Amino acid sequence: MEFSLSEEHKLIRQAARDFAQHELKPGVIERDIHMTHPTQQVKMLGEMGFMGMMVSPDFHGAGMDTISYAIAIEELSKIDNSCSVIMSAHNSLVCWGVEKFGSQDIKEKFLTRLATGELIGAFCLSEPEAGSDATSQRTTAEAKGDHYILNGTKNWITNGKKAGVYVVIAQTDQLAAHRGINAFIVDARSEGITTGAKEDKLGIRASDTSSVMFNDVTVPKENRLGPDGFGFKYAMKTLDGGRIGIGAQALGIAAGAYEIALAYSHERSSFGKLINQHQAIQFKLADMAMEIEAARLMVYRAAWLKDTGQEYATAAAMAKLFASEVAMKTTIEAVQVHGGYGYVKEYHVERLMRDAKITQIYEGTSEIQRLVIARNIIKGATYLPI
Ligand code: CAA
Repeated sequence: MEFSLSEEHKLIRQAARDFAQHELKPGVIERDIHMTHPTQQVKMLGEMGFMGMMVSPDFHGAGMDTISYAIAIEELSKIDNSCSVIMSAHNSLVCWGVEKFGSQDIKEKFLTRLATGELIGAFCLSEPEAGSDATSQRTTAEAKGDHYILNGTKNWITNGKKAGVYVVIAQTDQLAAHRGINAFIVDARSEGITTGAKEDKLGIRASDTSSVMFNDVTVPKENRLGPDGFGFKYAMKTLDGGRIGIGAQALGIAAGAYEIALAYSHERSSFGKLINQHQAIQFKLADMAMEIEAARLMVYRAAWLKDTGQEYATAAAMAKLFASEVAMKTTIEAVQVHGGYGYVKEYHVERLMRDAKITQIYEGTSEIQRLVIARNIIKGATYLPI
């Protein structure tokens, strides 16, 4: 059994860490306050190969593995979760499925530009009345000769206003229920697409989240991803991988808050000694370190299962669920270690605490992760013991 990172993984971690320190940290508080999109930083991520991390070099991607991707997301998420969710949704929810299920033409037309960050991708599954209950799609894709006509509204779409392409999940055959759902890649410039206002959120405030409306949008038939009726499974498979990205984000939030709290405990004194000499603080630091360690092992292992072609849906749901709970708990404790200073923006931990909450909600709430895990283990799906 090998627990150490390869030299390549270490280089990626260093590159992501340097980028986060030098390019993300300086403006992160201001962007959070004013909900300013990190457009320039996302462009730089594209130049670094991080917007097509797992895409094959055949389509201008960096051809890296999922472990590299998790490491990069973790490092960015220690500092700026608006930036890391943009990268995560783009890589996991858009690039992955387009590469796996798109035709050669679709890949040449869209994936090559997604992989370099020239185009940003958004994944449109959630609707006003279809969040956790993703089979209840109201958006329709009516088949008409050589094209489909899309109508409907999608909600809570990460990259909603900035996207150059949307992957849209829509109902083609109502009677066939989830087996009548399809997935499409849609050019954001198509006539009939409008977006709502940027949502004013608790956390990840700088990322662009909005509704996206489709009104008689014409989509060529060749833009369907996968065979007819495959769209629901397309979405579920996409989310399986997406949960590794969000697990890595949650891990980064927890690790970032812990690192700040640990450093602060070396500076701050009370009752005549450093606060890390008080058992009350030591217990908190010990719990944080232990739980982050467990979350990291789970996230990296889920990534490794995916990279080695093994069943990873259960491991990904477990990693996302566990890491998001660790992120919430750790950030609350990191604020507590700081006392009153933790409650102000300058010390960064209050932002990480606000950011942590979304990791328990998007790409499936904690309740959905438990449902996915339970169903899979009851069915006897493999969750391989080491
Ligand atoms: N892989 C492949 N197929 C799968 C699958 C998977 N992981 N999960 C389910 N399926 C298949 C089932 O086998 C079944 O197929 P058959 O009918 O052929 O047997 C079909 O899909 C229907 O599955 P279920 O009966 O399990 O469907 P359900 O409605 O009972 O439950 C659910 C499904 C797990 C609750 C699902 O709806 C779900 O995951 N919901 C949460 C959705 C979600 O995560 N939304 C987040 C939005 S995206 C987002 O947040 C992005 C962002 O911007 C950051």
